[in-house]
Amino acid sequence: MNEEEIYGAVGEEGFTRLTANFYRRMRRDFLIGPMYPADDWEGSEERLRDFLLFRFGADERYLEKRGHPRLRGRHMPFKIGVAERDRWVELMGAAAAEEISDEDAREALMAFFSQVADFLRNQQEGECPIGG
Ligand code: HEM
Repeated sequence: MNEEEIYGAVGEEGFTRLTANFYRRMRRDFLIGPMYPADDWEGSEERLRDFLLFRFGADERYLEKRGHPRLRGRHMPFKIGVAERDRWVELMGAAAAEEISDEDAREALMAFFSQVADFLRNQQEGECPIGG
């Protein structure tokens, strides 16, 4: 499915429900919930929603409000390793299971989210080659 097809299946309404469901979960998350500004959950929800409408529906609102996404740079202040990446994708997967009924669109979206979440990792992990 390409962007246009995904947008056609999900719609602005679906993306709005998806991000609302996702942030209801994120607010209660002990691992990555605390990274988000506690007094601006509505703002965070709006930024992700606008970004998705931009990415899949060529909607201009995100660009007008935030400029170029620069997602990697904007995530640098937060420690994102494997555990944080996996938790983000897990919460989004649970939200998508409830909000996106079109299976193909849901799968395509989750593939996108997994890829971006991995790209946003900024912590070196794994075995130390000299055993330190
Ligand atoms: C990998 C784990 C991730 C963590 C821990 C994380 C965490 C955060 C945090 C703490 C913020 C700042 C609060 C805010 O402005 O909303 C943020 C912003 C944002 N995140 Fe993530 N995020 C992750 C993955 C993703 C993914 C996969 C996407 C998109 C596919 C994404 C899209 C965004 C967007 C659009 C913003 C707002 C950027 C702006 O305009 O300032 N994030 N994220």
